Amino acid sequence: MIWTILLLLNGILFFYFLSNRTRSKREPPLDKGVIPWLGHALNFGKDAAKFLTRMKQKHGDIFTVRVAGRYVTILLDPNSYDSVLHDTISLDFSSYAQVLMDRIFNLRLPNYKPDTEKAIMKRHFQGESLLCMNNVMENHLQTLLTLESKALNQSDWKEDGLFHFCYSLMFRAGYLTLFGGEQNNNSADAANVYTEYHRFDSLLMKMARNTLKSGEKQTAGMVKQKLWDLLAQAGLRQDSSLWMQSYRRHLQAEGADEETQRKAMLLQLWATQGNVGPAAFWLLAFLLTHAEAMRAVRKEFRNVTVPGTNTLNPQEQTPVFDSALEETLRLTAAPFITREVLQDKTLRMADGQEYDLRKGDRVCLFPFISPQMDPEIHLEPETFKYDRFLNADGTVKKDFFKGGRRLKYYTMPWGAGTNVCVGKPFAIQSIRQFVFLVLLHLDIELHDPEAQVPEADVSRYGFGMLQPNKELQIRYKRRGHPIFL
Ligand code: HEM
Repeated sequence: MIWTILLLLNGILFFYFLSNRTRSKREPPLDKGVIPWLGHALNFGKDAAKFLTRMKQKHGDIFTVRVAGRYVTILLDPNSYDSVLHDTISLDFSSYAQVLMDRIFNLRLPNYKPDTEKAIMKRHFQGESLLCMNNVMENHLQTLLTLESKALNQSDWKEDGLFHFCYSLMFRAGYLTLFGGEQNNNSADAANVYTEYHRFDSLLMKMARNTLKSGEKQTAGMVKQKLWDLLAQAGLRQDSSLWMQSYRRHLQAEGADEETQRKAMLLQLWATQGNVGPAAFWLLAFLLTHAEAMRAVRKEFRNVTVPGTNTLNPQEQTPVFDSALEETLRLTAAPFITREVLQDKTLRMADGQEYDLRKGDRVCLFPFISPQMDPEIHLEPETFKYDRFLNADGTVKKDFFKGGRRLKYYTMPWGAGTNVCVGKPFAIQSIRQFVFLVLLHLDIELHDPEAQVPEADVSRYGFGMLQPNKELQIRYKRRGHPIFL
């Protein structure tokens, strides 16, 4: 009995000290929330954008919140982002990444070398290798889209949800391009991988937050096991991309066993396929609900089609499309950029103010709130304006201001600094190619002409591209002659 009381007292004291952190004068405003240890975890997880906007109104551009026992300093001034992005000595990208790798993918690499992995990827996602990969991706998109529409007569409309349509097509084409595999191979075909991946993706946020219920834990375990099995040959067979093959060799050289290698394949599947499909969905959703934007994109595509063919010339500039995509990503890309504080550090803001950060805390930028949805930077930030990133003369607009200063970061869907997205050029070309092919080959329209772009699923803030909270129903049919109307 006495031991139980002592243990209980110990626990209470432990909680008290954890909760009892006080702010020193040189530290950012501290908001611990009222619930011991948990702090603001519930509101943060429910709708991070809403919660952090409220905190910004209360505390300003920098503040520290307690979230499930951790102290996280949130920085929301884009003019000050470089002080975090450029510090790779006191701030570290990979330790938080490793926490998520373990929680979501059960992956612990024996000899994790993020810089080597990135160097391998960079080598394959630029220059000649990138051109080659873009070609393979285009062929897969073309084949899958043809398969999708071949079954239809020219007069038959097929109904589908736009999210499912975009995600499944982009995913399967991306999977075949990077991981390899025959479309008609029953055991590991791309459609099968997509079905399992979709189930995995629906539990992803709960895995990341450690909030799976017991039944969900079982489902997550089963789905992961299936995906590991389906990915067993990725990087080992000849039709995998050269990047995948190099990555496999790297894992083997670092001593990762077969099981760990499969787990790493699932991580790479998520990193390479998790954002592109949702981005293509939002872009088509905005185009289908904004007739002027759709007309402008179609007109531009008409002008860059290689004469006598139905192909998009990859060298051609498409500023209107690029602006529409940039605008889409401004509204729907919402990653946290998180760094672990390895040693006490002083953070200098753009206005000269200095704040101390404590070793063991985390720092988190959330560009979705600022710059992306900041009304001081983007007029009517909630509204989709396809030409927001175009000057009056049709050139790319890069001049945006906050507090009278020209901004380096006026939208940040790809992250920035040393950890900027390695796959950006491949992702952009894939989305461009997909939208080009869909608009060329299909008559596609909203099932309900009055339908609006759905709201985002607010539980997904912080993990890259948002996803819609419900489907947007469409119908499509094959065009007799591929043409831009
Ligand atoms: C619309 C599509 C995509 C979006 C919005 C996106 C976004 C991002 C963001 C925001 C980061 C930085 C994370 C941070 O700093 O904490 C990132 C990193 C990364 N992305 Fe993407 N990404 C996309 C597609 C892709 C594709 C297609 C690939 C590969 C083929 C890829 C590979 C990577 C890799 C390897 C990193 C980690 C870089 C590092 O370790 O430094 N991404 N991405």
